[in-house]
Amino acid sequence: MSKTFVIAVLEGDGIGPEIMAEAVKVLRAVEASADATFELVHAPFGAQAYFDHGHSFPEAAMAACDRADAILKGPIGLGHEESKRIPVEERPERGALLPLRKRYNTFANFRPVYLPPELAFFSPLRPEVVGDGIDIMMIRELVGGLYFGKKEEGIDARGLRYVKETLEYDENEIRQILTVAFEEARQRKKVLHNVHKSNVLMSSVLWNVIGDEVARQYPDVEVKHVIVDAAATALVLNPRQFDVMVMENMFGDILSDLAGGLLGSLGLMPSACIGMEKAYYEPSHGSAPDIAGKGIANPYSMIGSVALMLEKSFGMETEAKRVMDAMRAVFAAGYTTADLKDPKGKSEAIGTSDFGDRVVAALAARTV
Ligand code: IPM
Ligand code: MG
Repeated sequence: MSKTFVIAVLEGDGIGPEIMAEAVKVLRAVEASADATFELVHAPFGAQAYFDHGHSFPEAAMAACDRADAILKGPIGLGHEESKRIPVEERPERGALLPLRKRYNTFANFRPVYLPPELAFFSPLRPEVVGDGIDIMMIRELVGGLYFGKKEEGIDARGLRYVKETLEYDENEIRQILTVAFEEARQRKKVLHNVHKSNVLMSSVLWNVIGDEVARQYPDVEVKHVIVDAAATALVLNPRQFDVMVMENMFGDILSDLAGGLLGSLGLMPSACIGMEKAYYEPSHGSAPDIAGKGIANPYSMIGSVALMLEKSFGMETEAKRVMDAMRAVFAAGYTTADLKDPKGKSEAIGTSDFGDRVVAALAARTV
């Protein structure tokens, strides 16, 4: 009997609606060929939701997400000036995205940094550095650390304005994310790069102590310790030395954007945010308000997030792989979109919707 999966669809802001439309096309194409039915429940989320409903994470979105088997989320947010139209607490990063992460405790953020050989030309790195491609799984802790620690601001005894933010983790939170990372490393090349800053931060000292404890359960996984600033350099100089990397929330935010740069664009970075009970899937990039509505945004990371959802929430590994292969086939056939320039200028820039259509055609042709 065919399975039905309920998906909350939060298209978000900026290029969100455009790229989400392509993701939905792909879901429908998968549905047509696989033994599964997808019930899509669209809900408002982000800056537009604030303007329409007074909240960037309105009740309706919470209800849709609560009952969904998985959540597919587009990028959110406005440009720097535009966002001033929204009170600080309701701005979609603080008012919607962080509450979404907290509500479903999606502590494990998987950010695949993946550039197969046929897409290697997108990378700004020299061909001899990229070699036959980049394939790193960055695992970022997503519901702790500075993002969620106690915050305080005020005027101190000297009359100076001050602010205080706290980087807090307990051992369970650290163990939980490290366990996910060891499991991933075990499935892959059995090498785990633990990213930390224990030469300065107490939080990293505890992180590493727990890391040593967890490592005892994974004698088959080799752990390599790397300090976060050195990791940034090493990623640029020789990304191929990494396979699975694990890090706390803020380090992961920064290094995963750096990783997007290695690929040539954050547009090539889907992601999965996994909790014990619920998961949501989103591109690692922002809402790109400067190109919104032009039909030139590449839907790769949004469609890639669909693939991650098929794999991780629905157990549809074969279909997930076919979706990724279909996207790669479109690039390989010489197409891209204007926002994702082929530095060699050999690819033809097509629109967002054409790109999605070609992905669907590749899936339907069953050539992938
Ligand atoms: C990301 C984003 C978010 C983050 C922003 C939008 C709050 O940059 O998912 O990496 O900082 O986590
Ligand atoms: Mg970020």
